[in-house]
Formats: sequence, structure tokens, C-alpha cells
Amino acid sequence: MVEPRRQRTFRCRFLCMLFLLSAGFFIGSAFVVTDYKERFLSWGFVDAMQNTRLKTCETQCRPQGSESLPKGIVSKTSDLEMRPLWGPLDKKKSKSSMNLLAIAAGIKQKESVNKIVKKFLSSDFVVMLFHYDGIVDDWRDLVWSDHAIHVSAVNQTKWWFAKRFLHPDIVSEYAYIFLWDEDLGIENFNVGRYLKIIKEEGLEISQPALDPNISEVHHHLTARDSRSKVHRKINKLIGGGRKCDANSTEPPCTGWVEMMAPVFSRASWHCAWHMIQNDLVHAWGLDFQLGYCAQGDRTKNIGIVDSEYIIHYGLPTLGGSVANKTEEPNQATHDMSSHSSEKLVRKRSFVELEIFKNRWKKAVKEDNCWIDPYKKPPQQGKS
Ligand SMILES: *[C@@H]1O[C@H](CO)[C@@H](O)[C@H](O)[C@H]1NC(C)=O
Ligand SMILES: *[C@@H]1O[C@H](CO)[C@@H](O)[C@H](O)[C@H]1NC(C)=O
Ligand SMILES: *[C@@H]1O[C@H](CO)[C@@H](O)[C@H](O)[C@H]1NC(C)=O
Ligand SMILES: *[C@@H]1O[C@H](CO)[C@@H](O)[C@H](O)[C@H]1NC(C)=O
Repeated sequence: MVEPRRQRTFRCRFLCMLFLLSAGFFIGSAFVVTDYKERFLSWGFVDAMQNTRLKTCETQCRPQGSESLPKGIVSKTSDLEMRPLWGPLDKKKSKSSMNLLAIAAGIKQKESVNKIVKKFLSSDFVVMLFHYDGIVDDWRDLVWSDHAIHVSAVNQTKWWFAKRFLHPDIVSEYAYIFLWDEDLGIENFNVGRYLKIIKEEGLEISQPALDPNISEVHHHLTARDSRSKVHRKINKLIGGGRKCDANSTEPPCTGWVEMMAPVFSRASWHCAWHMIQNDLVHAWGLDFQLGYCAQGDRTKNIGIVDSEYIIHYGLPTLGGSVANKTEEPNQATHDMSSHSSEKLVRKRSFVELEIFKNRWKKAVKEDNCWIDPYKKPPQQGKS
């Protein structure tokens, strides 16, 4: 588009005037500035000014969608803090002291959830309950109920909730995120000591070991070794005739936790959230890829804490994970109405696992910029 000549000359004249005036501008003659600004406005002067400024600001990074706002007002992240309606504004707690427990909870597990939550609240955690059975009111009699955040959606899984309600921008304040099932016994678990250990050991992703005498243990790696504080590897035969030893570098020999009680650092959660697929609600297969979120070597940054351990009751609940084994489920407690729905859930989980594996393969193939840090060197003897 060609501007009318007259207008263009005016524009130039005003631009020149701007340079002459800029001295006065900075001396602080606000009066003059406002005056001229008003007059320039009608000549499209502000446009020109903005263009030049944009050039110098182009390199500045602004969160998408906030480009039309001045930077200082942009509030990119949030948290799950409840705030008072009146009174003085809260002073911010120090970031490093804030942690989050998010737990999938059904009313049938009220007692065990109550025990877990009480322990975490006394360690100053923010607590979030994902009610997958839609029952919220029946929790109100517990003293802590009003201090927890309740999210309810019927028949949804822990991963469905986590993907939707634990976006990294929402939970960025929390140093550690405990994303737990409800069917856990925590008599031998101390929250403060656990936090201290994972900090000292530099564990970005961790879980408390499972007491092998009482728990349903799916993988040897997660079983408690009563002689150690933390372990990252096992040295024994695992299923399928495979052997884990000191040289193992892959899950489930090392660099792996199970999904019933994972603990994520801020950074590892930021990564893991992106890997959770919207539609694959059982999240099978995710555990084997979590090493990519370990912020470094998965054989070092992922570990099992033995000195603080839990019991995994392995109840077939929606919040809890459905076992991979095909053995008939425990008769004791049932959250799903019938065996058949359990079977259907398991079937769907296996289908999801296949889809996830294929998606991963496809993504690797299509992304030429991505380098696999865990790629095995080509086997000797072959090729
Ligand atoms: C399991 O039982 C054995 C034998 O009774 C005992 O030595 C071991 O300490 C127990 N393990 C745990 C984690 O309590
Ligand atoms: C581990 O690797 C080293 C060096 O390759 C080898 O000497 C050692 O025997 C291996 N250990 C096991 C348990 O396979
Ligand atoms: C079942 O196995 C798959 C991969 O082998 C794993 O991703 C998934 O988490 C397992 N599920 C449970 C409940 O252990
Ligand atoms: C939730 O799942 C149960 C079976 O586990 C079923 O009886 C119920 O109808 C489902 N509710 C909804 C709203 O889908």
C-alpha cells in the first residue's frame, strides 16, 4: 500500500520532531510529552513508535497469548494455595518448603486415605484429592477435609486427573509432587525423612520401597532391601529368564519406579506431564519411559527409598493400578462393581500400552532433532 504523499511527509516530520524532543522526553517533562503524544496520536505516530520499539523487543520472549500485555503484569503460573477472603495478604512461603500430595481416592478407602493425608498435612503439604467415585460429601466429617482440594469426576483414573489438574504451570511452586494411589499403608513411612533422603541422594523420580512381606509386588526392583537406605538397581533374576546385574542400565532393572506411589521433582514432573497422553488414561508404558524425564542419568536420578517404606495392598480400585498378572483378583475389597469391569479395564490397559509404544516409536522416527540418550550401542557381532 502506498501512503498518500502528504501524509508520509507529515509522518517523517513528526518522526524528526520526536528525535528533537527525545532530549526533553527524558529530562522528564511529562507535560510536554503528554501533550505531543495526544497530538501525534491522530497522525498514526504511536504506530510508528511502536514499530521501532517492536524491533528492539522482538527478541524478548513473552508467554504466548500475553504479547498485548506489559510484561510485569503477566502471571504465568499459579498454585493450589487456598487464600483468605479478607485480612492481610499472605506472605509467600519459601518455594522450597512447598510440596504437593495428589491422591486418587474412593470412599471405600476412606480410612487408609485418612491416615495418609493426616501424615502429609502435618508435614505442611498441599493436599489434593481426586474423587473417582463422585463422592465428596462423605469426606466432610474428617477434620482436614476443608483444607484439602477436592476434584471429582466419576470413573476417571489418576492419570486422567493428573493430566488435567496438575499442569506444570499450576504446580510449579512445589518442589516435590507425590502422585499416589489410595491403597497404601504408611505406618513405616515418615514424610520429612523421605524428603530429606531424596534431596540428599538427588533423586528426581523416586518411590518408597514396598514391604515385600505384605505388599503386592509386581517388580523386584521396588521391593524393600532392609539393609540399605536407597537402592537404584537389583542383582537378581527377574521374570522371563532375564537377569539384572551391576551392569544393567535399563528398566525394570534400574532407572524405574512403579506407578502406585511415584514422587516427582518439579523438573521431572514438568517433563512427565508432557508425556502423559490425553486419551491413554491408564498410562501403561509411561513408567518405562520415565527415565527420559530423570534430568540426567536415569540409573542415578531414579531410586527406591528403602528406609522409608510402604505397603501396597494392591486393591483393584480405579485409583489404584490394575495388576499386569492374570491371576484372579483379591476377594477382600472391590471398588469396581464386578469382575467383568475389572477384566475390561485390564483389557483396555493392554490396548493402551500398545498404542503408547507405537506412538513413541513413531515420534522417535519423525523427530530428526531428537537424540536418544539411552540408545543401545550397536551389538557386537551383528553387522
Ligand atoms: C520380612 O520378613 C522377614 C522374615 O520374617 C524379615 O526378616 C524381614 O525384615 C521382613 N521384611 C520387611 C520389609 O519387614
Ligand atoms: C560388567 O561389565 C564388566 C566390563 O564389561 C565385566 O567385566 C563384568 O563381568 C560385568 N559384570 C557382570 C555381572 O556381568
Ligand atoms: C504393566 O506393564 C506395562 C509394561 O510392561 C507397564 O507400563 C504398566 O505400568 C504395568 N502395569 C502395572 C499395573 O504394573
Ligand atoms: C462407573 O463405573 C461403574 C463400574 O465400575 C459403573 O457401574 C457406573 O455406571 C459408571 N458410572 C459412570 C457415570 O460411568
